[in-house]
Amino acid sequence: MAESNQSSIVSQRPIVVVSNRLPFSFQRTTKGIESRPSPGGLVSALGPVLRKRGGTWIGWPGIEIREGEQISPRGEAYRISPVLLSDMEINRYYHGLSNRTLWPMMHSMPGRARFDHREWDTYVRVNQRFAEVAVAEAAEAGLIWVHDYQLMLTPTWIRQAMPDKRLAFFIHIPFPPYDVFRVLPWDRELLRGLLACDLIGFHVRSYAQNFLDCVERSLGARVDREALLVEYGDRTTRVGAFPLGIEFALFESLASEAPKARPAEHKTILGVDRLDYTKGIPERFHAFERLLERYPQHREKVVLLQIAVPSRSQVAEYRALKREIDEIVGNVNGRFATADWSPIRYLYRSFSQQRLAAAYRDADVGLVTPLRDGMNLVAKEFVACQVDDPGVLILSRLAGAADTMREALLVNPVDIDGTAEAIHRALTMSEEERISRSSALRRREQRDNVDAWVDSFLRSAVGARASLSPFTDKDFSAWLSDFIESYRLALFLDYDGTLCPLQDHPSQARLTPRMRRALDACAERDDTDVAIISGRALRDVRSIVGNERLSYAGNHGLEMSGPGMPDFTHEDLVHYRVRAEELAEDLKELSVDGAWIEAKGPTLTYHYRPVPDNLRRALVERAHEIINQAGYQACDAQCAVEARPPIGWDKGRAVLHVLRTRYGPSWSESIRVVYVGDDQTDEDAFRFLAGLAMTFRVGSADTPTAAGRRLPDVDAVRALLTWLGRR
Ligand code: UDP
Ligand code: G6P
Repeated sequence: MAESNQSSIVSQRPIVVVSNRLPFSFQRTTKGIESRPSPGGLVSALGPVLRKRGGTWIGWPGIEIREGEQISPRGEAYRISPVLLSDMEINRYYHGLSNRTLWPMMHSMPGRARFDHREWDTYVRVNQRFAEVAVAEAAEAGLIWVHDYQLMLTPTWIRQAMPDKRLAFFIHIPFPPYDVFRVLPWDRELLRGLLACDLIGFHVRSYAQNFLDCVERSLGARVDREALLVEYGDRTTRVGAFPLGIEFALFESLASEAPKARPAEHKTILGVDRLDYTKGIPERFHAFERLLERYPQHREKVVLLQIAVPSRSQVAEYRALKREIDEIVGNVNGRFATADWSPIRYLYRSFSQQRLAAAYRDADVGLVTPLRDGMNLVAKEFVACQVDDPGVLILSRLAGAADTMREALLVNPVDIDGTAEAIHRALTMSEEERISRSSALRRREQRDNVDAWVDSFLRSAVGARASLSPFTDKDFSAWLSDFIESYRLALFLDYDGTLCPLQDHPSQARLTPRMRRALDACAERDDTDVAIISGRALRDVRSIVGNERLSYAGNHGLEMSGPGMPDFTHEDLVHYRVRAEELAEDLKELSVDGAWIEAKGPTLTYHYRPVPDNLRRALVERAHEIINQAGYQACDAQCAVEARPPIGWDKGRAVLHVLRTRYGPSWSESIRVVYVGDDQTDEDAFRFLAGLAMTFRVGSADTPTAAGRRLPDVDAVRALLTWLGRR
């Protein structure tokens, strides 16, 4: 389908927005429960989107709703679906993991972060709850659009429930460099959560690049930095920079219409922020103090008006910041104030858009100096409101907004002297220069407004699904050349799902001629030993592959045979042959609807692939019961339950046995190991080989893995073997 058609379809179909905050938050006051607009840039951005398009907004109403309490959302132009959280959940998920861990980490301030596993567990559960509500709301939706760091795992469960639904994410804050992000104890889980999406949007390209570094280095995903694509297992995710804009026309008209104040006695420098340590408020006050020290001509002529919106005051860091700011304001005012003038006017409360617009318009300087900020909408709103005599924007170059707002006076907010100089320059700037800078800034923000942002994001979110070009030698060279060098290679390969696609019946799973050629080419090399390690019986896997130069491990390594080592059968297996026959008898009651039992000597597998979906669960549960009662371990495999003897042997131990027998106890000094598998049973080998080998998991991106890298499918395995065969 053409992209434009797809876009128009999604624009006609409802969209489901999922964010931690709803556009309003309830608060308990002495008068009862009151609703107020939620703070922050995310709500400023999404409000207009949903007001114009309609749809459903899923989010948390801001407090624990107790039994019998009623909340009535205000009349919005879209549906609201609240996610109710208990006080304990709010504490651990929101104040805790979201704001004490992720917020500082994402803003590259790891020193302020704390890490608590109980908070993480609650974050996981709450993210799952958001996903469940989203799934319940999204049957008809053209797109589910999840937002921000509080919900980075939510896509996981949406994807599981709705494999084909368009699913997108937007991160409203920075994405830190790999070296910072990897400090998170749950970095891989968070990255995997995001990769369940079709599209992940960031404000600026450098955040997207940081994300690509992280998925490449922490997850071993394949990335294309030109096309901005990530391939992780069988899924490809597009990433992109979509710089957020504002409702320019609204702010412009609010500024034009707001009543004019009487001519000011002082010039005004304006700061507007949530009271947050990322916003650089103390540094800003110090820079203003430095200005007054250095340029006494501004004393009694200039006021710094700081609006600080209360935020996250249950987090200790925010309370400490409030005390620090109170103290600085007291010091600076105490030092410079005169009978009719105080240098800093500090207002600790939030303002409506109307009042903000007037304040922006009347300010001579907009002072926006965050230490880090995903974008910063205040800078853009300030610009939109310069409808009269234009003021000067001073902007931190560490805010995402600085990427595009080049005509602002850019400062480094930690450089107090430099910022003081910029304030002086702004206060003394000629009208011509102010007009030139302001009109360039305004033109851009008018064009790149919030509508343009939504349009470009949605076009990308519903455009043709992306996929990376097939693997080339370049990919494998980058991954493996330095690792293998000129060492001998021990190559372990699972069979079903790795060398040939899974089939309804194992007897149908045959190597294609091309796969056989690739495998043979590896086997023919003098510096490469290939072992097939399968859950099938040894005899079965050996005959189906049929290459005598290879080693074979059957029954997950309970029986092995091959060149360079004596045949091996685990010593406890004799006890299990008869028991396996008895177990097969017991399982016969489950041979219904096409389900069948594969006898493999001392073990067996119950296959249920032909069984209709709705009947599977009961059969699998019963199979587990019967297998466990018989003294076996029931292990889930791909549409199958394996009965394995509980003798502490798995593919990991089997690999170790082969390595020690063939190459001696110091095998890791003389050879390099590559292991490729697609199955849960291969995870034992991945775990054992972590740090010792290069491991690849084939197939779905949804199953967690201990493997170092993923391959999407059997074709990619063939490409890998082809490269290894001619390396
Ligand atoms: N804001 C507001 N009332 C206030 C102060 C701020 O509505 O008293 C709004 C402001 O208009 C802007 C948002 O809060 O849209 C702040 O967004 P920004 O991206 O600057 O920072 P964030 O709070 O998201 O970190
Ligand atoms: C930033 C975040 C938002 C958040 C807002 C207000 O803009 O990106 O996700 O909603 O701050 O913070 P709060 O913790 O009050 O929701």
